[in-house]
Amino acid sequence: MTSLTGATSHLLPSATIAAISASTTARLAISFSSSSSSSLKCIRSLIGTTSSGRFSTFASPKCAASDPDQLKSAREDIKELLKTTSCHPILVRLGWHDAGTYNKNIEDWPQRGGANGSLRFEIELKHGANAGLVNALKLLQPIKDKYSAVTYADLFQLASATAIEEAGGPKIPMKYGRMDVSVPEQCPEEGRLPDAGPPSPAAHLRDVFYRMGLNDKEIVALSGAHTLGRSRPERSGWGKPETKYTKDGPGAPGGQSWTVQWLKFDNSYFKDIKEKRDNDLLVLPTDAVLFEDPSFKGICREVCCRSRRIFQGLCRSTR
Ligand code: HEM
Repeated sequence: MTSLTGATSHLLPSATIAAISASTTARLAISFSSSSSSSLKCIRSLIGTTSSGRFSTFASPKCAASDPDQLKSAREDIKELLKTTSCHPILVRLGWHDAGTYNKNIEDWPQRGGANGSLRFEIELKHGANAGLVNALKLLQPIKDKYSAVTYADLFQLASATAIEEAGGPKIPMKYGRMDVSVPEQCPEEGRLPDAGPPSPAAHLRDVFYRMGLNDKEIVALSGAHTLGRSRPERSGWGKPETKYTKDGPGAPGGQSWTVQWLKFDNSYFKDIKEKRDNDLLVLPTDAVLFEDPSFKGICREVCCRSRRIFQGLCRSTR
């Protein structure tokens, strides 16, 4: 598996985060590595999706990796869950928060964090940044119970990718084979995920995302995932209790969305924030800075205008 970090394909498993930016054709899928070379001897299996969408095993496993047939069935169950609950946004956030603890500077797994299923443990769910994500875990737990040969780490990323696809986003070229941490002591320490209102938002975003091995373009594109979902003051402290766009749901009513159609995966995040056209739409300090910082600002413009090319380039870099 290749990774955006430039780490070589032997660094497995990897967390896959998908975010969209730009038009309905503009897509970004980002993978970054979450294991260490020291765990490699044990990891010989990769499961990927082929262009036809089938799950495939690239090599025979030596230690636990998700079963391809179970992954395929789990995906169908996730689709059903999405249909009945419209929980797309929170599943995307769950996948991102499991993966986003990744620290490229730490060699050892699981100390380096990343998509390793650690977010299922109470100690990590209680980190301030993860407020509300216990609800996503509750939604996925029955699927995990049904498919015991799918790891939490893979299930979270599968759920996130499926949610993006079902919301109208791209078909993400996912690979599977992530291993789970086994005890809460292996969870990362609190503080690896970004704050929404730090004193210097641009510097903060760079600190956090560069630590993951990502660059400015990827920060902008990933932030575009806020085209989906809402913020709830009772969870994160950000956003209004309800707006004209959220008071009737779907799903549990309330919160403040970044976009009007917050269950649709498109580039309206970039348009709506730039135009600042509606007080009912949310702009976090870390969103606003993307349109103020000279480097981020240029990329936002590019994302809006030339999104297809950006997507194609970034997709290539993740394979
Ligand atoms: C750039 C730094 C980021 C900050 C500061 C940030 C902060 C936040 C905050 C405060 C919320 C509201 C949570 C709540 O009240 O329930 C939220 C929601 C959300 N975030 Fe982010 N986020 C960031 C990046 C990302 C990325 C990279 C992704 C995905 C790739 C993402 C996906 C989401 C989604 C989908 C929601 C909506 C969840 C829901 O509706 O339940 N965020 N984020």
